[in-house]
Amino acid sequence: MFRDQKVGAIIVAAGSGERMGGIDKIFAPLGGVTVLEHTVQVFEKSPYIDFITVVLRKDNLEHGMSLLCPKNISKLTSICQGGMRRQDSTLAGLNALPQCQWVLVHDGARPLLDQGIILDGLEAAQETGAAAAAVPVTDTIKRTDEDGCVKETLQRQSLWAAQTPQVFRFDLIEAGFRHATDSVTDDVALVEALGIRVKLFNGSYDNIKLTTPTDLVLAQALCQQKGN
Ligand code: C5P
Repeated sequence: MFRDQKVGAIIVAAGSGERMGGIDKIFAPLGGVTVLEHTVQVFEKSPYIDFITVVLRKDNLEHGMSLLCPKNISKLTSICQGGMRRQDSTLAGLNALPQCQWVLVHDGARPLLDQGIILDGLEAAQETGAAAAAVPVTDTIKRTDEDGCVKETLQRQSLWAAQTPQVFRFDLIEAGFRHATDSVTDDVALVEALGIRVKLFNGSYDNIKLTTPTDLVLAQALCQQKGN
């Protein structure tokens, strides 16, 4: 059971943030701190997390260190440089973690996760060794052809939007990276490719990923509503 084992969290925040219109979202203000500090604090406060690794873009390393290092974040064991693709950043974080049996990967750009989601994720991952937060999609999803015309309307009842945290037994995520051939947009896809069943657990519609400037306004409003 994970309670007797070490759990590491990788916070990936090394994206280019191209869709943010020039704002560096991880350093944007949220609840009196930055988005990055907000995310890191949730993991620092979790009784289930032992180590935290933060992954940043090369040109943000200095700024990130100057923000996080003076804060005495006891579980923060490293701040490392990410890579071109998201999965390269996750791998850099994985290599930087001290030895642990379970790993949570979380988007630095999702600062509004709550404590419950960390425990739910760890519990869900006990079944198959891998789990991902997700919410049912609320829009109808269509597949298009090369002319932009609808080819297929998908059955919404079985569609989920994947979020983070995504939780792994350490040896499984390691194996996922060892065998990775394709580029993926989330980390559980690497273990799906090994034929491992990935358990979905309830994320939250508040657990938004800051992608556009509108998301930041929404996050600030949600943060105020939650009183933090
Ligand atoms: O690009 P996407 O929106 O999926 O990014 C999700 C998270 O992954 C963000 O927190 C982003 O900073 C991170 N990321 C990363 N390294 C990359 C690309 C994305 O750490 N090369």
